[in-house]
Amino acid sequence: MMPKRWRNFPLLLLVNAVFASSQPFENSAIVRSIELGGSVVHVTTTYAIKPLEAGLKSYSIALGREEKEKTSWLEVKSKGQDNALQVTEQSFDPSKDFHIIDVQLPSAYPVNKSFNLVLETVQTHATHPWPETAAQKDEQALKYTTDLFVVSPYVTSIQRTKIKTVTPRVISFTEPKNVEGFAKENLASKSGPSVVYGPFENVPPSTSASFLETYQQPVTVHYYHDQPCLEITKLERFAEISHWGANLNIEDKIVLYNAGPKLKGHFSRLEHQTQAFYKRPAPHVLPAMTLHLPAGIRNTYYYDTIGNVSTSKLRVAPSTSKNKQKQYSVFEFRPRYPLLGGWNYSFTLGFDSPLEDSASYDKKTGRYIVEIPIMTAFLGTVIDDEELTVILPEGATDVRFAAPFPAISNMIGTHVTYLDTTGRPALTFKYKNLTVRHAESIFVTYKVSWSAHLKKPIAVGTAFLGLFTLGMIARRVNLTLNQQKPKAS
Ligand SMILES: *[C@@H]1O[C@H](CO)[C@@H](O)[C@H](O)[C@H]1NC(C)=O
Ligand SMILES: *[C@@H]1O[C@H](CO)[C@@H](O)[C@H](O)[C@H]1NC(C)=O
Ligand SMILES: *[C@@H]1O[C@H](CO)[C@@H](O)[C@H](O)[C@H]1NC(C)=O
Ligand SMILES: *[C@@H]1O[C@H](CO)[C@@H](O)[C@H](O)[C@H]1NC(C)=O
Repeated sequence: MMPKRWRNFPLLLLVNAVFASSQPFENSAIVRSIELGGSVVHVTTTYAIKPLEAGLKSYSIALGREEKEKTSWLEVKSKGQDNALQVTEQSFDPSKDFHIIDVQLPSAYPVNKSFNLVLETVQTHATHPWPETAAQKDEQALKYTTDLFVVSPYVTSIQRTKIKTVTPRVISFTEPKNVEGFAKENLASKSGPSVVYGPFENVPPSTSASFLETYQQPVTVHYYHDQPCLEITKLERFAEISHWGANLNIEDKIVLYNAGPKLKGHFSRLEHQTQAFYKRPAPHVLPAMTLHLPAGIRNTYYYDTIGNVSTSKLRVAPSTSKNKQKQYSVFEFRPRYPLLGGWNYSFTLGFDSPLEDSASYDKKTGRYIVEIPIMTAFLGTVIDDEELTVILPEGATDVRFAAPFPAISNMIGTHVTYLDTTGRPALTFKYKNLTVRHAESIFVTYKVSWSAHLKKPIAVGTAFLGLFTLGMIARRVNLTLNQQKPKAS
């Protein structure tokens, strides 16, 4: 007797047969693991792949349309390797419900010999509070929705999705429909902090319109989450390089937003203090947050619309030249008031650091190279919008930069302060949806004219130059530096 799934899906069988003859790959297995958070969700998908032809150079990964929209960071590696593989996104066909990303394989694999690729993505704004409001002493529950099947242009022998929560308290999850043909049992099951969908067997190429229409479906997990859902709706970072003061000043203007359930009723400070006293803070209220700031910082300032905020603590790690262990300065950041669901808090955080900690001078080319961190890593927090402005010393010319990932936009202009006569060259970068995975650096290089140079030469760390070169190779940053002419304005 035919297995039940074949009897039920003659059309599928046909599609399957047509594709099978021309398909370059087959997925022996796909395992997707989703780690739920607040405003940031991490997804790891492992593909066990069998080449059906010789000499194949690229493998195509598919991401559903909505999934792609939520994905703010993506990386593919061979399993167990450190280096990311090069990926190229195919131009999106709006009549299709998925995006295709081509992964360049590190070598051509022999026919029938399986290999593994690991796709890691970070999704932002993928969860929402449910219920949408909560009283101060209520719990916080969130909903996350994703597609049931991992889509792939190839036949998949077996696939499974595991959705993991931080606290093992799942309220409910969707039971998939109409997929009995792919699984004998366990369409969906819960074990501890995880909800597992599948395993589903013999899944035909799921990028076909008929498959997507018939079987693809959203599944939702409703779960308790006991950390606040934080968003930085706006970050303006100014990084000002001063040769004169041998200083790098970083200033962040931050609008922090609690995207958890909105507060129902009034805020009671007494209730808040009682909860704090019993060390049972409400899960959706942010009392404080620990940030890693660079080593060797000084003159740290933190103020909001009312004035200086003095309740925060800072422990400065020694400057990088004396800091072999690469420690961070630790800043315990405490807003003036506890941040409740739906509330905003705007503040400014800034600090100076010795320029030689992040700058070097290359005698051969006569160029200064300065490392500018794109952002401070706020764990579990998404930065919706960032504008980074790098202000170069007066007289800087021939400005170039190397960036670890592209910005939404970037430009070179002039920054005029009242002391300057000519204005200082400035670089501006705009970003959206940044997470800790984006906490990397831009390298800016420039020359300084001889007369400007004479004012005060900066101390340069030769050790840093070595680090810079190594760092570039390790991170596979494109070394062809972007070059732009300053805009006349
Ligand atoms: C940022 O994230 C939002 C919500 O997930 C999404 O709608 C938007 O397209 C993203 N923007 C960019 C530029 O990726
Ligand atoms: C690959 O496996 C298939 C089916 O198991 C077999 O028919 C084919 O001959 C194999 N090809 C090679 C090159 O080993
Ligand atoms: C804030 O503190 C800094 C140094 O601690 C001080 O220089 C500044 O005047 C203070 N500003 C206000 C508004 O109190
Ligand atoms: C917080 O800011 C957002 C926009 O940035 C605004 O829509 C919202 O009303 C603000 N919330 C409060 C409580 O002011």
